[in-house]
Amino acid sequence: MLSLSIQNCLRSRIGSRGIAPAEIGKYRSNLESARGSLESRRKSGRLGFFELPYNEGEAGRMEAAAREWKGRYDNFVVIGIGGSALGNIALQSALRHPNWNLLSAKERRGGLRLFVPDNVDPNLIRGLLDALDVKKTVFNVVSKSGTTAECLANYFILRRELERKAGKDAAKKQIVFTTDPEKGYLREVSRREGIPAFDIPANVGGRFSVLSPVGLLSAAATGISVKELLRGARTMAERCRTSPVLKDPASLYALVHHIYMKKGSPIHVMMPYSHQLRDMADWFRQLWAESLGKKLDRKGGQVFAGPTPVKALGVTDQHSQVQLYMEGPHDKVITFLSVKDFGGDVAIPARDGHYLGGKSLARLFKAEERATIAALSSQGRPNLAITLPKVTEESVGELIFMLELSTAIMGELMDINAFDQPGVEQGKLLTYALMGRKGFGHHLKSFRKWL
Ligand code: PA5
Repeated sequence: MLSLSIQNCLRSRIGSRGIAPAEIGKYRSNLESARGSLESRRKSGRLGFFELPYNEGEAGRMEAAAREWKGRYDNFVVIGIGGSALGNIALQSALRHPNWNLLSAKERRGGLRLFVPDNVDPNLIRGLLDALDVKKTVFNVVSKSGTTAECLANYFILRRELERKAGKDAAKKQIVFTTDPEKGYLREVSRREGIPAFDIPANVGGRFSVLSPVGLLSAAATGISVKELLRGARTMAERCRTSPVLKDPASLYALVHHIYMKKGSPIHVMMPYSHQLRDMADWFRQLWAESLGKKLDRKGGQVFAGPTPVKALGVTDQHSQVQLYMEGPHDKVITFLSVKDFGGDVAIPARDGHYLGGKSLARLFKAEERATIAALSSQGRPNLAITLPKVTEESVGELIFMLELSTAIMGELMDINAFDQPGVEQGKLLTYALMGRKGFGHHLKSFRKWL
């Protein structure tokens, strides 16, 4: 079972920059009402992410689709961006071989290679076209709104390439959409052309959608057990629901960060000591930033609030960031993602009587993690640890749900709406105007000076 330790945020451990137990106790009723308010919105069907772990029927449909693709195709390309791509990348690097795309089909046990070109840099897309055998590829176009420019541009390009090389009929067999059940351009095309589509429930927002077909279809295509992922998420959902608030990991994680924001530490670093979990930090960065960075509170008052999430990686960033974390401004809280069992180890051979000889990489990795945690704590630098027994579908499901729920609770504590993104929308509208989309030209007027 995943565990959360906040020990190194307590005054008893890190001195005056730590939190006193009484400070935590003071927030019990705030946390209770945060959880209560989320629960009533869940019951009224407004927060669909709560329900995703229970959608086993959908998991079965995705696994059936993946079985169809196995053996017939080699590659799976996710065409999406933001919440429609980051979770896919995170699941893949957490739960598949680090060089998955270089393995043979046999080594992949029929699982497809995965590509997630989540940008519109022409160099990236040209490079993909150069390398990809489109006849052996399934294209999953993922967009909640079905209108995002980056996603549609890449879809148009890749679809043309597919039709050129595999014929017009290939689209129906090799393209699958994941989109809103009713609205948007992709849904319209699916209806008109008979392109198969999976649903993103209308009440699930992009960055909370990794446990829907958004993240799970590509996972199933590469052979990840989506049922196990959902099982882990359910375990966490039940644990958080039934624990007293100050024992519920999602509430506690949010609360510690909320207290530190008030103490002047708004920079929240996530530093996995697991190469497999590096992209979970990237996924979390979007979740935390886009959900919590808001100009207005819920009463409409200007607050310009929000933490700044930072992604780091142990041990790599010991040689890049840790100097700053140790001696720079006291404005950070660091979360270590820790793993007990790496599922294997590599011995360091003896050479020249060197002290490293005869030890192992896991021992070195763990020693560096412990040393960094101890060094930071000794300098009064608050840090938390989320520990996974092992990186498995189940523990990753637990982690994802805990961080999603924590984000929602943090939004309640900050009294902002964690589920919208008006700041992103403005850039989207302006891009439409710049790209000549009909009806959007007027957005240019007020920005002319900056453009
Ligand atoms: O969390 C969000 O809502 C965003 O990051 C979206 O995921 C992103 O903008 C992509 O949107 P869409 O899935 O509608 O293409």
